[in-house]
Amino acid sequence: MAKPKTRYACQACGSVTHRWQGQCADCGEWNTLAEEAPATVFSSKHDLTSGGRRVAFEPLDAPSERLVRRSTGLAEFDRALGGGLVPGSAILMGGDPGIGKSTLLLQASAAVAKAGASVVYISGEEAAGQVRLRAERLGLAGAPISLAAATSVRDILTTLGTMEPPALLVIDSIQTMHSDQIEGAPGTVSQVRASAFELIRFAKENGTALVLVGHVTKDGSIAGPRVLEHMVDVVMSFEGERSHQYRILRSLKNRFGPVDEIGVFAMEGAGLAEVANPSMLFLSGRSEPIAGSAVFPAMEGTRPVLVEIQALIVRLQSGATPRRAVVGWDNGRMAMLLAVLEARCGLNFSSCEVYLNIAGGYRLADPAADLAVAAALVSALGDKALPANAVWFGEVSLAGEVRPVAHAGIRRREAAKLGFTIACGPPGPASGDGEGRYTELSMLPNLVDRILGEA
Ligand code: TYD
Ligand code: MG
Repeated sequence: MAKPKTRYACQACGSVTHRWQGQCADCGEWNTLAEEAPATVFSSKHDLTSGGRRVAFEPLDAPSERLVRRSTGLAEFDRALGGGLVPGSAILMGGDPGIGKSTLLLQASAAVAKAGASVVYISGEEAAGQVRLRAERLGLAGAPISLAAATSVRDILTTLGTMEPPALLVIDSIQTMHSDQIEGAPGTVSQVRASAFELIRFAKENGTALVLVGHVTKDGSIAGPRVLEHMVDVVMSFEGERSHQYRILRSLKNRFGPVDEIGVFAMEGAGLAEVANPSMLFLSGRSEPIAGSAVFPAMEGTRPVLVEIQALIVRLQSGATPRRAVVGWDNGRMAMLLAVLEARCGLNFSSCEVYLNIAGGYRLADPAADLAVAAALVSALGDKALPANAVWFGEVSLAGEVRPVAHAGIRRREAAKLGFTIACGPPGPASGDGEGRYTELSMLPNLVDRILGEA
């Protein structure tokens, strides 16, 4: 009989090999391979084409139960979830330490409990007393939540088995959970996977909405188990700069709704406050127009958000290598824009230090930001302030063309509503759509002329 093969699983990315190595071949991490129980030889010894039960096929249009979602009590949380908690679903909530995951989930738990549903909150990281203290600070101490500090999945499931299944079960965090069916310390891939598997099975069988808190590694993926992302129905990430007040809740995967909606919160003295209308949020504190500042109407899902892009250009006297630094935008993309400005518009940044910053700790991923960044850079280079009531959007190609982007109408209408009556963007359908004045810029040199040409 063939000897069962030993498996080694990477504790960082979950990939499996049959040979021990110092470095994982998939993710490149060192010393992360750990031995796992050997694969069964069942499949190699048995023919699987007979002896099973027949599976019944169903048509796609068979009547099914309607999804009844439960509100989390926080409209922004519901929005990011695609309308609320789905019973029997598993949600993975990732985020940097200290960003406010426990605070958000405690607030949501309290609201769900106050609405009359049963909520179980299991804290594996903090003692029950600490959670209670936080609840007191948030003014939620009266909420009828069943709170426990526990890390053994067997204890948790045994306890839940003796009571009515809760409507919401929060596990904070999955990395602290321990299943005694498997060897290994909490936090390893096999432990996290086994614990999550048992908890998710409980949730599916009992119609409980399950929220698993997951830690995030330096590079932003949910620590250890990428496998976890495949096991759950919804993956959410809670983001923001810790030094800034604003937090964004994003769904990265959602089996029950769209993934481009965000929830916006502000971390305040008494917990997370919802920000229902975020469009002006990242603009607050703007004073007189100064050179190097451009306003960009970004899209977050279906909502426009106006953000301020700041550029600073410092000419170097000596021949030292100038620095380029970007906060909140893609480094490579700025290098590309600088190259296009040099090659197509004849500007010279070679002896200048270039700094780019997106105000308010916001992270821009929208490709339409190119034109606004270019406007900020040109404005900083020429030391000419842009009109205070102008917004800029459009994608810039390597040839220097300004390309159309999605949702031009929504961007323009929102900007106009907030007093930005001049919009500059790509030619095309956008020009007829929306309010205020629209300036078509078909090539990047048009932008440079417009900013530097006006005396
Ligand atoms: P926490 O929810 O513990 O973060 P996580 O669970 O993601 O690690 O939030 C911790 C931070 O939030 C902490 O640094 C302090 C801040 N905070 C406030 O500013 N106001 C509050 O009311 C609370 C409860 C926390
Ligand atoms: Mg926490």
